[in-house]
Amino acid sequence: MPNYITGLDIGTTKIGVVIGEVGEDDELRIVAVTSTPSEGLRRGVVINLEKTVQSIARAVAEAEQMAGVQVDSVYAGIAGDHIRSINGRGVVAVAGPNNEITEDDVRRVIDAARAVALPIDREIIHILPQEFIVDDQRGIKDPVGMAGVRLEAEVHIVTGAVTSAQNIYRSIERAGLRVRDLVLEPLASSLAVLTEDEKELGVVLIDLGGGTTDVAVFYQGCIRHTGVVGLGGRNVTNDIAIGLRTPVDQAEDIKIRYGCAVHRPEDDKETIEVPGIGGRASRRVSKALLVDIIQPRMEEILRLAYEEVKRSGFASLMNGGVVMTGGGSLLSGTLELAEDIFGVPVRLGIPQPLHGLREEARNPMHATGVGLVLYGLQQGDAEVGHHGGEAGLFDMILEKMRRWLGLA
Ligand SMILES: Nc1ncnc2c1ncn2[C@@H]1O[C@H](COP(=O)(O)OP(=O)(O)OP(=O)(O)O)[C@@H](O)[C@H]1O
Ligand SMILES: [Mg+2]
Repeated sequence: MPNYITGLDIGTTKIGVVIGEVGEDDELRIVAVTSTPSEGLRRGVVINLEKTVQSIARAVAEAEQMAGVQVDSVYAGIAGDHIRSINGRGVVAVAGPNNEITEDDVRRVIDAARAVALPIDREIIHILPQEFIVDDQRGIKDPVGMAGVRLEAEVHIVTGAVTSAQNIYRSIERAGLRVRDLVLEPLASSLAVLTEDEKELGVVLIDLGGGTTDVAVFYQGCIRHTGVVGLGGRNVTNDIAIGLRTPVDQAEDIKIRYGCAVHRPEDDKETIEVPGIGGRASRRVSKALLVDIIQPRMEEILRLAYEEVKRSGFASLMNGGVVMTGGGSLLSGTLELAEDIFGVPVRLGIPQPLHGLREEARNPMHATGVGLVLYGLQQGDAEVGHHGGEAGLFDMILEKMRRWLGLA
């Protein structure tokens, strides 16, 4: 009986579901990739519970049909501008005999690092170990078994608004599913589109979605900073609807077919047809006018993303460049504009699973969904492998989440 891992990406514009089948040797085959319109969310946050529940149920049913399996539990993404991240540091004395560092020491030092004062309306979503320092030796990924007297940990702590997390959790449970874990969306996307080399050299991941643009900075193999810009592709569409006085769904269509984030010399010569509102006759406008509307908004989004990177202190360490993903990054000219703003090479992040529905998955809109499945696969490893301590930690966070929901 194969095992299945389901990723549920509750986006502002679409609910993406990706189902992976885990065969022998942990080989992953993608058996469903679906995208259905989402209702009830704004900028990554649930604003209408009932609509969100229905959207989730519909999306999962479609994926179940595609895969021919029943889904009971999911790894779900969490995002939105309520997400905050900070770096923490903890120190403990190694407790055991012979100064040998044990998993228990690691657990204690991570506990010490996470002991930051949190306002009562915020809860921890992830504690991501960056590196351990044994005595004065830095850059250690796994200190268990090493000798030392003093163990330090540097961790990246991601927090979210308690109520926003609860509403995501509730929507999924009401749709009849169990939440295996809530995962920060850009962290999930990073698993699907970044290479180990890029993460080592220093890379910025930008997930330009419909409602939000998520930023994550990696350096020396670890996540260093995460941030959110509360704007996305939907704002671009709305600008077009207002600027060209056309219905929103027509504006979306025009954006996808003719939209561009940078001016091109031929723009003045090309015209596009714009349907009018409420039965008014359609008219033709120059493509240059369309780009005049799109360009400033895309520039604003990317500049705010760059501000986020500067705030992280890693702006000069982007040796692996920028990787853009999410549906909004498909807009023509986006990578060029981003190169101008960031001053480093920019590439498109496309998930590339090795087996199964490779073509369907190969779209930046599915980076989060595919990444959630990869995250689940990693967690599976964690249960049997030497990362036992980390798995315990994640269980602990989940346990805690249950507690604030009154489920345990
Ligand atoms: N070919 C395309 N050209 C331009 N924009 C596109 C294209 N395809 C999709 N988009 C835009 O991508 C956005 C949706 O992207 P995505 O599916 O990543 O967002 P989401 O996950 O629903 O939202 P969020 O992550 O913000 O909650 C929409 O604004 C849509 O207009
Ligand atoms: Mg998204």
